[in-house]
Amino acid sequence: MSAADVTSQVPAGRSVRVKVPATSANLGPGFDTLGLALALYDDLTVTVREEPGATVEVHGVGEGEVPTDESNLVVRSIAHTFAAVGVPLPGLDLVARNAIPHGRGLGSSGAAIVSGIVAAKGLLEGIAELDSTMLLALATELEGHPDNVAPALFGGLTIAWMSQTGPAHKKLIVHRGVSPLVFVPEHVMSTALARSLQPDSVPHEDAVFNVSRSALLVAALVQSPELLHAATEDKLHQNYRAQAMPETNRLITELRSAGFPAVVSGAGPSILVLCSDPAQRLAAAQLVADRAETPWQPLMLAVDFLGATVHRVEEDAA
Ligand code: HSE
Repeated sequence: MSAADVTSQVPAGRSVRVKVPATSANLGPGFDTLGLALALYDDLTVTVREEPGATVEVHGVGEGEVPTDESNLVVRSIAHTFAAVGVPLPGLDLVARNAIPHGRGLGSSGAAIVSGIVAAKGLLEGIAELDSTMLLALATELEGHPDNVAPALFGGLTIAWMSQTGPAHKKLIVHRGVSPLVFVPEHVMSTALARSLQPDSVPHEDAVFNVSRSALLVAALVQSPELLHAATEDKLHQNYRAQAMPETNRLITELRSAGFPAVVSGAGPSILVLCSDPAQRLAAAQLVADRAETPWQPLMLAVDFLGATVHRVEEDAA
């Protein structure tokens, strides 16, 4: 980040449009570390206005549910970013068109946070520069862990970790055979509840188990999709949380027994199947259609390779 010109203000009329992908975190063994960006997007337009305060219009997912005042998570993320660079927050009009389901383990809160931060970066162009390290640090501060916000920001497969100087990431390009399939149920799951079910410590052998599988998973996703079933085994989080999402647990057990690399998506309750080719994806969709007891929406999603994008939509009024 370069120093901001604190005498500058963002002019009224400046407007940016942001697109942010859904994400699936953990991917089985990579708890709080691995994440994958998926081609399902929230879209946001932010325009600076003369009057202070903020208006928020929400279309699609979250319409009539999420706050439309300054307590809105996207507005708070924009405000957090302006405060971090020391530039006064202007009045804002937001229009959100959301497609990422809420409370299902597909990174909707991370996407809202990243939308705000990336919108702020676009609005601050020429006034304060934000580099990728700063974007990830701001997003992780708000989200609490980096595994959803890293792929939402940068796309592809991301390995995220906490270094002594803050969150860091490595982006990798996923093998073209990898064909993600997500099953989204009608019910929601709270990430806070899921995290409260985790023990403070785990047996050493379970830790070794997950180290081996998460190392293998990176190789499987980048180079050897035929290893995805072995590579998606986990002993660190899914069993502890299973009681809170019994149908997720049952369907994952059935999918895995039938040879499909199925895992809980993020903190759940959605299921992610990391299929190694499109034919396996169709077969997994059929299994769930045959055996689910409640409705599950199958989403055949490509991997997103770009991450969040921002562009100016009109010239400054001034
Ligand atoms: N790694 C996080 C968890 C992802 O599983 O709790 C959900 O935010």
